[in-house]
Amino acid sequence: MDALAARCHRPSTRWLAGCAIELDRATLARGGRIVLDAVSASICPGEFVGIFGPNGSGKTTLLRALLGLPPPLSGAVRVFGRPLRRGNRMIGYLPQQRAGLADLPIRGWDFVASAWQGERWGLPLIGRRGQQQVMQAIDRVEAQALADRRLSQLSGGEVQRLLLAQALLGRPRILLLDEPLISLDPHFQQAIVALVRRIQQTEEITVLFTAHDLNPLLGVMDRVLYLANHQAVIGTVDEVVTDEVLSRLYDMPIAVYRIKDRIAVFAGHGPVEAEAHRHDV
Ligand SMILES: Nc1ncnc2c1ncn2[C@@H]1O[C@H](COP(=O)(O)OP(=O)(O)O)[C@@H](O)[C@H]1O
Ligand SMILES: [Mg+2]
Repeated sequence: MDALAARCHRPSTRWLAGCAIELDRATLARGGRIVLDAVSASICPGEFVGIFGPNGSGKTTLLRALLGLPPPLSGAVRVFGRPLRRGNRMIGYLPQQRAGLADLPIRGWDFVASAWQGERWGLPLIGRRGQQQVMQAIDRVEAQALADRRLSQLSGGEVQRLLLAQALLGRPRILLLDEPLISLDPHFQQAIVALVRRIQQTEEITVLFTAHDLNPLLGVMDRVLYLANHQAVIGTVDEVVTDEVLSRLYDMPIAVYRIKDRIAVFAGHGPVEAEAHRHDV
């Protein structure tokens, strides 16, 4: 892993053998506007990368680009050395927009199964292989007790575990998790982070995990990817979360304070992670 990591961690204009994900001067747009401009970064197989940046900085755009939705305007995005293709079974995705799920009048098992697309899509027609996959995914997120309960009776953290099970269907090699901690209290946040870390380590899955606050992910992330001003910077927390690096990226004075085992990032008048990550800085 070390030799691989040394190769993978250097952004490059050519494909590097062994990368799980490579952005090679990739320009990504959404709604006709450029969101990320000629961004390069390489992510190794089995890495856990936390993705941060103000609202609108392109976290969701980046994850969607890895699904080919849409492909880059210029440059390249490669997954395990290959150009993107839509419907890539190697990638599991937990999308950001999840409003209204709690009102669905279905059981946990059916909810996970609804994300399985076998040759005959539909709940009653899910084949034996689909059923096995659904069962295994529910086991992997330790949600056996939720299978028979209705979504409307579950807490936010429990629904989040079933969403994670959906993303794990088909045994992906890469997990893209878009804001899985949003609107969870700290106890459930820690439970989800620990669960994702366990799955990532035992199954050697590459994880890209977006969040507003980096504190819940400290200690589990291998590296952070910060987005701002159409640019990206990737590295360890110690390399990236510094006054110098973040001030350059945000193009404004940023102050980083370490208080015991927590990190507070301040921009202008307030903390970046508490507020500015929710708004444009
Ligand atoms: N559905 C959409 N249509 C058009 N533009 C969008 C859409 N969603 C987001 N955008 C714009 O794309 C940019 C990047 O957004 P996004 O990737 O969602 O950022 P983040 O996930 O970091 O908050 C923002 O300027 C946002 O306004
Ligand atoms: Mg987003």
